[in-house]
Amino acid sequence: MKKIIIAIDGPAGSGKSTTARLAAERLGYIYIDTGAMYRAVTLAWLRSKLEMSEDILCKLLLNLHIELKPSEQGQRTYLNGEDVSDEIRSIEVTKNVSPVSAVGCVREKLVDMQRELGKNGGVVMDGRDIGTVVLPNADLKIFLIASVDARAMRRTLELKDKGIIESVKEIKEQIITRDLFDSSRDISPLKKAGDAIEIDTSNLTIEEQTEKVVVLAKEIIQKV
Ligand code: CDP
Repeated sequence: MKKIIIAIDGPAGSGKSTTARLAAERLGYIYIDTGAMYRAVTLAWLRSKLEMSEDILCKLLLNLHIELKPSEQGQRTYLNGEDVSDEIRSIEVTKNVSPVSAVGCVREKLVDMQRELGKNGGVVMDGRDIGTVVLPNADLKIFLIASVDARAMRRTLELKDKGIIESVKEIKEQIITRDLFDSSRDISPLKKAGDAIEIDTSNLTIEEQTEKVVVLAKEIIQKV
């Protein structure tokens, strides 16, 4: 049976990562979280304590080795051999990741890596530009959306689970700022691909949204 390529895009907190991970598990596919890669570059920049400029980021990238590896607890992210999976979810990284992701050389390097990871199929890749730029020939493209209040509430609870306490109001503001930045940047902005299927997850459970994606994927797998 052919192993297809599934692209899942959408704004922060729309449920991309959880849906992509669970759908990949059910289909026996590899899950690739491209946001984790942009977060790893952002962490490296924060650690460098240098100012944010295109020049500095491009130089910094030359010495960065980013890897995504599967593990019992899901995908882990490595930066120059160090497991940074938890650190890349910090508020500090989240606040800085959008401007870092808007820089041309950062996108070029990461998009190349992502295409390489996706080229053989059997993958569910999530991000902002997967269906539009990274894998425009994906067999199934999903665009997840949800109201900003639903997204802020989810993200606040997710952080609380990790022991990070932030108000819903603060998280909502961060999400609005990041959405605006991600959708208005010049290179590969967050936008729905013309042939993507939009799913509003505001009132769906994780199980329901995962099921929708898996059903759509199986329909395509049977045809190819
Ligand atoms: O999980 P969440 O939606 O908060 O974000 P993420 O998927 O971890 O992505 C973090 C940031 O990386 C996004 O806000 C974008 O600025 C950037 N990103 C991107 O530009 N392109 C992608 N394919 C994935 C993420």
